[in-house]
Amino acid sequence: MPQELRAVEWTGESLALIDQTLLPQRTETLDVRDVDTLVDAIQRLVVRGAPAIGAAGAYGVALALIEGERAGWSRDEIRAAVARVRAARPTAVNLMVCVDRVMTRFDEGLDAVLEEAAAVQREDVEANRAMGAFGADWLLELVGEDRPLRILTHCNTGALATAGWGTALGVIRELHARGRLEVVYADETRPLLQGSRLTAWELVQEGIPHYVQADGAAAGTILRGEVDAAIVGADRIAANGDTANKVGTVGVALACADAGIPFLVAAPTTTVDLATKTGDDIHIELRGEAEVLEWGGVRTAPAESRGHNPAFDVTPGRLVTGLATERGVLEVSAGQLPGDHLK
Ligand code: MRU
Repeated sequence: MPQELRAVEWTGESLALIDQTLLPQRTETLDVRDVDTLVDAIQRLVVRGAPAIGAAGAYGVALALIEGERAGWSRDEIRAAVARVRAARPTAVNLMVCVDRVMTRFDEGLDAVLEEAAAVQREDVEANRAMGAFGADWLLELVGEDRPLRILTHCNTGALATAGWGTALGVIRELHARGRLEVVYADETRPLLQGSRLTAWELVQEGIPHYVQADGAAAGTILRGEVDAAIVGADRIAANGDTANKVGTVGVALACADAGIPFLVAAPTTTVDLATKTGDDIHIELRGEAEVLEWGGVRTAPAESRGHNPAFDVTPGRLVTGLATERGVLEVSAGQLPGDHLK
């Protein structure tokens, strides 16, 4: 097995981010030494995926302290810089949760902040490993067949999107490791191609058989009976199980419901936001029009057209068959998530 990828790595004095805008053509690392560069990197999707931006945000507190020291900032100015990191993208709750967690050690100084950020990163990998095993057990029992499974996934939820291993892709890797995976249908994931650029790249590294398909092919592939289950990640899960994830996910969930196959969400408990009651309360990031009106910097839509570019959509909890976390698999379709399990 290839050495485990680290999308986010503290070097001792800076934050090394694999530049995910360049993959798979180039594997380059961006060396981040100040808050402005980190905020820009999160917004440009150099680092992306809810748990990975959570980890980057956690180390962002350390960067703010180091930069503040260098530039002679006051404590309030450092806090304001941390607030900018926390607000860099609005939908994935992991960013806020991880920054807030590390900020509880802010007054103890840099070493304590770095210790907490490292714990965030370590615990995310442990959570992913655990949810991978729980998700695979649950799925194999539910599908109840001995043959290897055909799994559809949307967006990228692997090592690149997390501190390591992956969430939905972690379940897929676990199925592969158990010899229970036939093939993955990886939706290309318009408009920034996290599926065809990043998921496919990770699947190649793992030697996992896969097809890349257009997002518009997903429902047909499912309804033709070519898929046993869909597994996706999440950016924020409301208390009633409504799940925000990459735009296009809700169409996959609807097709799974119609076909009567499982739709599994895999996410750490840090993605569950019990303070958000329903999906209606989730802030969906609207990104720039150029991402849908242009291709590779060249205008493809008519000059008169306007672009609509929500980065995420919300899948109603009733369409989610199961939620795999590091603590087990919850059956979601019944409604309210059990707060005790998630605290
Ligand atoms: O815009 P992105 O690439 O950050 O969106 C990522 C997703 O929607 C992922 O599915 C989600 O963050 C889970 S990653 C483990």
